Amino acid sequence: MTASTATAWIAESDRDESVPKQPQVIRTPEDMHALSAQVRAGGKRIALVPTMGALHAGHLSLVDHARGKAEFLVVSIFVNPLQFDRDADLDAYPRTWEADYALCAEHGVDAIYAPTAPAMYPDGFATKVSVSGLGAGLCGAHRPGHFDGVTTVVAKLFGAVMPHLAVFGQKDYQQLKIVQRMAADLNMDIEVEGRPTLREADGLAMSSRNVHLSPAQREQALCLRRALDKAQELARAGERDVEKIKTAAARLVEGVPEARLEYLEVVDAENLAPLAKLEGPARMALAVWLGATRLIDNDDLN
Ligand code: PAJ
Repeated sequence: MTASTATAWIAESDRDESVPKQPQVIRTPEDMHALSAQVRAGGKRIALVPTMGALHAGHLSLVDHARGKAEFLVVSIFVNPLQFDRDADLDAYPRTWEADYALCAEHGVDAIYAPTAPAMYPDGFATKVSVSGLGAGLCGAHRPGHFDGVTTVVAKLFGAVMPHLAVFGQKDYQQLKIVQRMAADLNMDIEVEGRPTLREADGLAMSSRNVHLSPAQREQALCLRRALDKAQELARAGERDVEKIKTAAARLVEGVPEARLEYLEVVDAENLAPLAKLEGPARMALAVWLGATRLIDNDDLN
């Protein structure tokens, strides 16, 4: 084989999507920054999908979307201690590195940024990124410090990866809005795109935490989707009184034996302020405990 045919063969196999790429694994912010600087210097667009691993089809829908929008695709996997308000939740968080790596390879990821905690938060680390207002209600009201932990780590991920585009799920709608605000306020020049929630066939939103549900709790977890369906049904039938919608939706959670409703709110879809009347774009969001597992979901009411 001549040198030129060898090169042609390599180029062809690179393009063959049936051959999984082996993503590079990057362990420090410095190495990530250097790699991204090189990719950018080559004129390529970088997309980032931030995750905490334990990848499921919901994460992969973001990865597949991002794959089509940039030449260089980075998935970050980092279970961020700063955003956990309970140590037990952090300890119990599923960690499935081998499976995550294989899924990233199958889905054409170029690099996995999986920094260690000491590399992210060395001794002396002292900065907090905090978005006010948007983080006050919904999950923010029940998880003190959570969103500051999220914005701090996402700002660090953005700083190291320097993506042109970052893709987030609407599953964590409040998180998405807060990150969009942060990127705009800090002139990060990063497009932050939100994508729809992927659900199991019966309507349960996919989540890394679903593995903790017992079979009975898994069945009862459908109350979140049922509450959203009820609210959407009322809104579409012309009900404008938010109190009535909330009461009818909450009843579907309160009747479930192991479920404890943490909050159920109807908010303005952009500024997340609680609404009394349905007028413009609105979102219903709720959090429900099933035993020791906390589930969240949301959907639009238009
Ligand atoms: P994690 O819970 O791993 O979620 C990573 C991304 O996947 C988030 O943008 C989340 O909204 C999205 N996602 C989760 N379940 C989804 C589903 N069923 N359908 C579509 N997208 C879904 O969110 C985090 O990690 C962290 O807070 C992070 C942003 C990585 C910062 O640590």
